[in-house]
Amino acid sequence: MNNKNIVSPSILNADFLKLQEQISSVEAGGAQALHLDIMDGNFVPNISFGPGIAANIAQGTSLPLDCHLMIEKPELFVPEFAKAGAQTITVHSESTRHLDRLINQIKETGCRAGVSLNPATALSDIEYILDLLDMVLIMSVNPGFGGQSLIPYTLKKVTQLRKLKPDLDIQVDGGIKLENIAQVKAAGANNFVVGSAIFATPDPEKTTVEFVKAIS
Ligand code: DX5
Ligand code: ZN
Repeated sequence: MNNKNIVSPSILNADFLKLQEQISSVEAGGAQALHLDIMDGNFVPNISFGPGIAANIAQGTSLPLDCHLMIEKPELFVPEFAKAGAQTITVHSESTRHLDRLINQIKETGCRAGVSLNPATALSDIEYILDLLDMVLIMSVNPGFGGQSLIPYTLKKVTQLRKLKPDLDIQVDGGIKLENIAQVKAAGANNFVVGSAIFATPDPEKTTVEFVKAIS
């Protein structure tokens, strides 16, 4: 049995001058989680925001927060994001030498533990720890920026992973649009991160409704 299909808007490209309004609009549109992209300018060539802002956001929404850490030394920040109110903390397999230890550290905080794989990273990175994970995030773009195009070969990885573990929560992140979300779903994903295709539209609430409908 597969996990629930959910849309998880990424606020990376939201208008931060009216962040509360933007978050409330996707919540009203039926989004089931909020995806927070944490970037440190080292693991990825961009900087976003840290646990302080994540904690503010937690005060402004009842949606579960899904924190995608694109940072070096993620183990230093796991406690901060747990304290900020994350429901799920996702780390990159490429960002640590001790992935098993890091997963356990996340779980000890009480958060759900996710692992993300960059487009070129093989599924074999997580083969032995699959049963420890609450979610796997397959990156469909090279992390760092919103508004990029989905890399088609990454969907093969989604299909292989779905076969390996039929009940896994599989999230796909990057370049998802109304025009290709059916293809991402058909590949085997159940958790869809959507950034610019929601927040770059004039009515994020209405667009969220359309995305939720597209995966139901
Ligand atoms: C990329 C981020 C994504 C991205 C999604 O590094 O992890 O969450 O911002 O944005 P779109 O949907 O615009 O690709
Ligand atoms: Zn992300």
